[in-house]
Amino acid sequence: MYVPNEIEKILFTKEQLDDCVRRLGEQLTEDYSDKNPLFLCVLKGASLFFADLVRAVECPMEFDFVRTSSYVGTNSCGEVKVEMMKTPNILGRDVVVVEDICDSGRSLCAISKALSEMQPKSVKVVTLLNKPSKRVVDFKPDYIGYEIDDYFVVGNGFDVDERFRNLPYVGMLRQHCTKTG
Ligand code: IMP
Ligand code: MG
Repeated sequence: MYVPNEIEKILFTKEQLDDCVRRLGEQLTEDYSDKNPLFLCVLKGASLFFADLVRAVECPMEFDFVRTSSYVGTNSCGEVKVEMMKTPNILGRDVVVVEDICDSGRSLCAISKALSEMQPKSVKVVTLLNKPSKRVVDFKPDYIGYEIDDYFVVGNGFDVDERFRNLPYVGMLRQHCTKTG
């Protein structure tokens, strides 16, 4: 198996990620079977998890993509700007946001707030990983894959400077590798 030198250890294997997707898929199928939900993938980190998750949800649905970027300006969620690829019509829809990780909570707080202003019927959040120790805004995801301590992770969509997204597992990065040129 391809394990680059920068990976200190594997935190979640492909099999553990598959288990987690299966479990979340079952819960979401149960909760959304009669709702025709709109699943929203937060690019780019959640893309691989999202592709696996939507195929594990066995009910009618639609999906779309959003992206966040840093923003100069302050609101209760911090400095995050939410960009819709093409503003999806979420009026009256049950929306499920799918994110890779909830760290400070700023991104998910900003996304939930932006979506709520578009009058959906409901907004719930799924995150593959949750780092509760890093929270700086009050935000609680509705569905969580795994909780982790304060590690910097890469693989299965997670990157450091766009590297390592393609690894089929989630690994912990060696400390000195978090900063690159
Ligand atoms: P937030 O701090 O909760 O707003 O998270 C912002 C974004 O930081 C996440 O969507 C991830 O893309 C990224 N991020 C946070 N922790 C990690 C990590 O351990 N590895 C890779 N990306 C991370
Ligand atoms: Mg992200």
